[in-house]
Amino acid sequence: MSRSSRPRSPWQKSRALSLALAFGACGGEPPPPAAACPEAPAAEEVAAESALPSPPDYDAIPEGPFGDAVRRGERIFRDTQTYAADYVGTAHNCDNCHLDGGRRPSSAPMWAAWGMYPDYRKKNDRINSMEDRLRGCFVYSMNASASKAGVAPPPGDPVLQDLQAYMRWMAAEVPVGHELPGRGYPALDRPEPAPSASAGALVYEAKCALCHGDDGQGGALKGGEMLFPPLWGENAYNWGAGMHRLNTAAGFIQANMPLGKGGSLSDREAWDVAAYINSQERPQDPRQEGTVADADVAFHDHDCMYGDSPADGGATLGVGTGQSAE
Ligand code: HEC
Ligand code: HEC
Repeated sequence: MSRSSRPRSPWQKSRALSLALAFGACGGEPPPPAAACPEAPAAEEVAAESALPSPPDYDAIPEGPFGDAVRRGERIFRDTQTYAADYVGTAHNCDNCHLDGGRRPSSAPMWAAWGMYPDYRKKNDRINSMEDRLRGCFVYSMNASASKAGVAPPPGDPVLQDLQAYMRWMAAEVPVGHELPGRGYPALDRPEPAPSASAGALVYEAKCALCHGDDGQGGALKGGEMLFPPLWGENAYNWGAGMHRLNTAAGFIQANMPLGKGGSLSDREAWDVAAYINSQERPQDPRQEGTVADADVAFHDHDCMYGDSPADGGATLGVGTGQSAE
């Protein structure tokens, strides 16, 4: 696949540089493992190959107040750790799960989401505005209850305003109210026999640990910037996040991981490794009021391992990190 000659945002450039530095500039000494230097193809490359809508070039961001808001929104999206620090309780940025600044098809891109709200969500059984949806990713995927503010940005907050300006700009050419190809994460058929966390452990060790760490805690550059997000443990997405569902994680992983080699895992491997990651402890489901068993009944009627008892006799899954077993 040829590299795009389209202009890239300064954030994409600095990210590529960080990755290169982390791996001794890809080709330096000692040579990095083969998997270590890739960069996911840019959204417009994927779009060009598949006739999907292509988000606009960054140099098309207009001057003036709207353009300023779009630029701030992009900054928040790509470096949430810095620009919405008060509301982030994990080691994540939005674009860790919505790749390429929320532009990449099959990684729940923002241009495909924009025209689909307000919409009903089973998760909270009501119509959700885009603000509600964004706040949801703060509460669960970014575990806002462990952040400095202890909550998601309140409705009307400039963080939510700027993120929406960025999305609005990105979706300018996209028809509203139509489910677009590339929206969300791909749906994979559930394999028979059922996904196996123990088989997934082997996939993890061979294909993921290099970047996400043997213990799933991710990895930082010397300066402290988190380059490889944690997949479990106290800095990871919590038990209420979409990514804890095996089907969601399997779809994301198959399409996007290992980074730069999306599509290389078999569906089976993706399901197994999704089961492995999601059978590890992580921060508690913020909706839990009584026991894990209560929350399991109330909120986890989907494909996940919440409330399961691990085969090795360990604590029930869902207890959370930093909480004592009940
Ligand atoms: C070459 C390094 C690399 C490898 C190998 C890799 N990842 Fe990732 N992974 C990343 C990076 C970097 C991100 C964040 C994406 C971004 O910001 O562009 C990420 C994001 C993720 C996410 C979403 C973010 C989160 O914290 O939940 C999951 C899940 C994930 N990877 C799982 C896997 C699995 C499973 C494998 C093995 C099959 C794997 N990754 C292999 C680098 C890697
Ligand atoms: C740990 C991974 C993760 C992180 C970090 C994350 N999200 Fe999400 N996001 C998801 C998942 C999973 C979904 C549901 C995708 C699906 O099921 O199709 C989602 C869905 C969304 C949607 C709706 C997409 C659609 O098509 O309806 C929006 C909008 C969104 N996220 C915005 C954000 C923003 C903004 C941030 C940063 C504040 C963020 N997300 C951080 C995982 C994450």
